[in-house]
Amino acid sequence: MLRVGLLTSGGDCQALNATMRGIVKALVNTSAEPVEFYGFEDGYQGLIYGRYRRMTPRDFSGILTRGGTILGTSRTPFKLLDVPGADGVDKVPAMISTYRDLGLDCLFMLGGNGSTKTANRLAQEGLNVIALPKTIDNDTWGTDMTFGFTSAVEIATKCIDDIHTTASSHGRVFVIEIMGHKVGWIPLYSAVAGGADVCLIPEIPYDMDNVIAAIERRMDSGARFTIIVAAEGALSREEAALSKKEYKKRVAARTSPSIVYDIANEVERRSGRETRVAIPGHTQRGGAPDAQDRVFATQCGVEAALACLDGAFGCMIGYVDGAMKRIPLEEVAGKLKRVDPACDLVREARALGISFGDA
Ligand code: F6P
Repeated sequence: MLRVGLLTSGGDCQALNATMRGIVKALVNTSAEPVEFYGFEDGYQGLIYGRYRRMTPRDFSGILTRGGTILGTSRTPFKLLDVPGADGVDKVPAMISTYRDLGLDCLFMLGGNGSTKTANRLAQEGLNVIALPKTIDNDTWGTDMTFGFTSAVEIATKCIDDIHTTASSHGRVFVIEIMGHKVGWIPLYSAVAGGADVCLIPEIPYDMDNVIAAIERRMDSGARFTIIVAAEGALSREEAALSKKEYKKRVAARTSPSIVYDIANEVERRSGRETRVAIPGHTQRGGAPDAQDRVFATQCGVEAALACLDGAFGCMIGYVDGAMKRIPLEEVAGKLKRVDPACDLVREARALGISFGDA
């Protein structure tokens, strides 16, 4: 008998269920021995507090296209892992004892950066853990792709497409805030896919003079409107020069809900052009996974199942240079995959005339 646990941790995304379905189907179809499944509720919280459900393969059927997670999720910050909560529970020993009490042979953890750090910690404590790279942000080190990313790009692009009509009818500037946490993958891809004119990402700090100049160049060429895609983590050159502590202080002192309002106000004040903000927000994590995500999530799930049957634990499943790989967790944990400002897509976007506000 093989006993496995599954949990989904951190922000949800469209392809979590598709990934779990891949794990379960591949195990059922390829394991030489019967498999018992345990689903932990709300991420690591379920493992800490022993909140789990015994599940059957049926529970994972019909969920390929369902967004969110049938297990529920939550954020359990890595930096607080060794700090007992208000209830006094010591999280790491509690997780180990739930795993041991159930007699698990493997824990599949579907999560992003922070969650992978915790998975690595549990592997170091002797648990058999296999991580799967979930996040719309695509910022997980060790894999070229994360599941959730392409679906989020699709939604962000649809938002940019839809804003075009109003921007054009009214002759306005629009600043569209796109998710991505501290990196600019979704903004970059959706800006290219949606034909944006300006793209501001954290990896390429902007100068407002250059943004205004890009708007004026475009309007001088006869355009009636300008679309600016701004990452939620977009940084001005001045902000980029601040220490981490000073920057945090600056963000805390903001009176507007996010940077895009500051950008829009400054654009309107300096250009004299009517400027509006649009924020698709959490819709970028919602709905059904797109076809590419369904395929990639399924691949991740199947490869994770096969790794488990091979006894290859302490790894994350990743996609590197066109092939599915098992990457040691300690190589991945704690690192962020940023957009390389010199990468092909940035170079090609510049050739298209997209301004990054840096020149
Ligand atoms: O990591 C996914 C993500 O949607 C980021 O893009 C965003 O910064 C963050 O989560 C939002 O988190 P929350 O759902 O907790 O507001």
